[in-house]
Amino acid sequence: MKNLTIIDHPLIKRDLTVLRDRRTNNHLFRTTLRRIASVMAFQVTHDLKLRRCTVRTPLENTRGYILADDIVIVPVLRAGLGLVEGFLDFLPEARVGHVGLYRNEQTLQPVDYYSKFPRSLGGSLVLLLDPMLATGGSGSAALTFLKKKGARRIRFVTLLAAPAGVRKVTLDHPDVRVFSCVLDRRLNSRGYILPGLGDAGDRIFGTD
Ligand code: PRP
Ligand code: URA
Repeated sequence: MKNLTIIDHPLIKRDLTVLRDRRTNNHLFRTTLRRIASVMAFQVTHDLKLRRCTVRTPLENTRGYILADDIVIVPVLRAGLGLVEGFLDFLPEARVGHVGLYRNEQTLQPVDYYSKFPRSLGGSLVLLLDPMLATGGSGSAALTFLKKKGARRIRFVTLLAAPAGVRKVTLDHPDVRVFSCVLDRRLNSRGYILPGLGDAGDRIFGTD
């Protein structure tokens, strides 16, 4: 699928298996998600531009590097919160925004209830985080929010995607690259990803 990059890594495959397993408790789910997020952050940022600088070691000056881009991480509440710490482990300088959306269980349409973004998103690289891309309604709405707030360079980072969600997001936002650890088979009649991992928010926060 155009615009979709699958993050393929043995450590991700192993951790995804733990996350899919119905026996995995909330604590293990959270710690595994955080670890997988670090590997995702590493892969999603592999092509970031650098600026040269000079660093003084205890012995002499030498060449160093800083990230050229201002990075903004935006988790989609709630489940996106499970990815934030893993991303901040690799991107401690990032600023963090939030967008709150939930799916109406009957219509599957996203309902927004909160948003707060750092100032001046226009020059930043924005990483939108949500572990689940199912119908794509929430992801597409979050991207529209970000663009209204001025974001111009956005990457959408998800753990598990369904083909329908990737199609919707890339149709609505052809300028956005989507990164996912896996492309699952399909959605069931209630809009859940198959084989999936269930309700990510409930499994992170123990609300199931
Ligand atoms: C989940 C998930 C996504 C959305 C994906 O959130 O975190 O935001 O569903 O589904 P979609 O692609 O069909 O829109 P949910 O609505 O369960 O809210 P929660 O994170 O607060 O539990
Ligand atoms: N949201 C989830 O948390 N899981 C799914 O399978 C679909 C949407």
